[in-house]
Amino acid sequence: MTTVIVALGGSLLRPEIEERHTWLEGLVSVIRDRASMNDKIGIVVGGGAPAREGIELARPMISDESHLDKIGIAATRLNATIVREALSDAGVPVSGTIPKSIDEAVLLLEKRQVVVMGGTNPGHTTDAVAIRFAVSSGATKCIIATNVPKVFDEDPKHNPNAQAHDFLTHDQLLEIIGVSEHSRAGVSQIVDPVGAKEAAENGLTLNILDGRIIDLIKEAIVDGDFQGTEVRKG
Ligand code: UTP
Repeated sequence: MTTVIVALGGSLLRPEIEERHTWLEGLVSVIRDRASMNDKIGIVVGGGAPAREGIELARPMISDESHLDKIGIAATRLNATIVREALSDAGVPVSGTIPKSIDEAVLLLEKRQVVVMGGTNPGHTTDAVAIRFAVSSGATKCIIATNVPKVFDEDPKHNPNAQAHDFLTHDQLLEIIGVSEHSRAGVSQIVDPVGAKEAAENGLTLNILDGRIIDLIKEAIVDGDFQGTEVRKG
């Protein structure tokens, strides 16, 4: 029995992504298979488009970033509800509620095979939630499913010659991220710096991959020939 936590970037549920129903069906099928093999899986869903839209709408009227974070958290829970309901209807043994804290999530994962959640508190993103959930539940690793194939040393949109990495130490990842704090509500980075720091402190292995390709998530869960960037202890 393996325990794995998966952070699903909210962009993966965006309406712009073609074939999003096929993607969601593929996700449900992978989770159903793994649950039937007795794996325990925690899924932490990001806010994506509704988070960004809500934060942008309210920003001119709200100066406190933590109040804007709350809008983002509400969006993550909306997306988590979509994923939870899809799993539940497919007969996957998923917890009946969306936990609001790590402690609650850990307790639910003891009772259920699968737990789906969104954000917890202001001050970080769902990457950090997934990393804390992984550390607290004794998971073997945390999968960060995002919309880029690997971690690059620079943003490939700005530098087409940016170098992609298959393996990084935690320190190398922190160096690439560059900052160590949650800067603004709704601002996205390859991995949330708050989470990356906690992964480093706890020696937690991260698998960062392109979640648009469901097979990559599957391979990372079953520990196959996974494509993406593995971050591990130096
Ligand atoms: P996301 O986890 O979706 O962050 O939370 P992101 O990295 O911006 O988006 P993706 O995953 O790449 O799509 C959206 C926003 O919600 C707030 C933050 O403002 C975050 O930027 N949030 C989320 C929190 O404050 N706390 C949480 O636990 C989760």
